[in-house]
Amino acid sequence: MDSLLIKGGVPLHGEVSVSGAKNAVLPIMAATLLTPEKCVIRHVPDLTDVGFMAKILASLGARVSVDGDTVTVQAAKLKPVGDYELIRKMRGSICILGPLLGRQRQATVSLPGGCIIGTRPIDLHLKGMRDLGASVTVEGGYVNVRARRLIGCDLFLGGRAGPTVLGTANVMMAAVLAEGVTTIESAACEPEVVDLAYFLNKMGAKILGAGSPTITVTGVKQLHGVEHEVIPDRIEAATFAIAAAATDGEVILHGARPDHMHAVLDKLKEAGVKVVRKGLTLTVTRGGRLKPVDVTTLPYSGFPTDVQAQMMVLMALTPGLGIITERIFESRFMHVSELARLGAEIAIEGPSAIVKGGRKLSGAPVMASDLRASAALVIAGLAAQGTTQVNRIYHLDRGYEKIDQKLRGLGARIQRIAQE
Ligand code: EPZ
Repeated sequence: MDSLLIKGGVPLHGEVSVSGAKNAVLPIMAATLLTPEKCVIRHVPDLTDVGFMAKILASLGARVSVDGDTVTVQAAKLKPVGDYELIRKMRGSICILGPLLGRQRQATVSLPGGCIIGTRPIDLHLKGMRDLGASVTVEGGYVNVRARRLIGCDLFLGGRAGPTVLGTANVMMAAVLAEGVTTIESAACEPEVVDLAYFLNKMGAKILGAGSPTITVTGVKQLHGVEHEVIPDRIEAATFAIAAAATDGEVILHGARPDHMHAVLDKLKEAGVKVVRKGLTLTVTRGGRLKPVDVTTLPYSGFPTDVQAQMMVLMALTPGLGIITERIFESRFMHVSELARLGAEIAIEGPSAIVKGGRKLSGAPVMASDLRASAALVIAGLAAQGTTQVNRIYHLDRGYEKIDQKLRGLGARIQRIAQE
């Protein structure tokens, strides 16, 4: 298991390119199961999650090839059941359920286990499948969905924490080959959902309203192969922007989509961070004394929960009191105790973390618990005096392409070490 060794205190300087979006490419790779024809996906990030999805598609009978940042998939013939162990390991793989049900009217996938950031049920996914006419059973750790016919309908997909991103993706992918019109109310509006709808429409689907809470899908008989370039990763871009401000450096982000990042960029400006936008390029500098801000995570276009941990580090470095409230996942504060090891002062009160900022951070060995918590620990290590060792970085490799190389390109003293 690899770790990262970070010698902190160096302001980041330089240019970095934003990779393709993990949370767009996973459902788009799953969508290739909807056609027997070849699909070519470009700007695909080199991540362990992408590798997992490629293996899962292959275990279902698809031919998959990866050439640099291009993934080609042809699912000419499909098996009803995929690799249990692989699917169980990666929560995102649940989004093969909709395409399999849509294409072959049946699917059996392993139930995704709990996750450290929350219970993360899939009841809304299954509700959507049932509303479309499928029977759903859960047995022996498997979810089985079957339908003689899938019939379009009006369905509501809002839950305890609002819309569901992968639930919207799954139901949309089941509905594209259904009979008639499906209207999804309280749909997720994330840019990754819009990119998936764009991909499906290029395959011949008829989807309207993606990006709004009401999505309409008119079923078609079949879909064809396409070529598609995935959108840039707004969460990776936000992570580098916060790292630039946290280290008092200057970073130029190339190939970002600022129009997908309004809530984050607005909050950074409120905190005193200087963000200059030129087309798809963002230049981020600290821009003087930072101010504490309050942040509440919300569904898109609100502040993303996937940037909560990174923003908490910036607030830990900022003199004054900042309150960070997590409204999407019930236990997404695993990074708090690790940040305390670096000297941060953070108290948890229910869904909120009260950050008493401005204390100098000093390096220490810390443990990554999940993807975004590990990114936060890396930023804290870069800003801290001394050496920080971030362990269990397999979490990081799931969602950040070559992050240590990219950071070294910005002058960071960071190296990957293999641990027994
Ligand atoms: C997607 O997860 C992302 N993952 C997550 O990113 C992201 O945090 C999340 O959306 C929210 O933005 C991928 O796209 C692969 P949800 P998803 O269904 O779709 C509850 C990262 O770091 N819920 O929108 O699984 C759920 O428990 C990851 O890259 C139900 O109650 O999230 C949560 O509280 C982490 N029932 C809320 O809704 C359901 O059936 C939002 O979850 C489904 C969800």
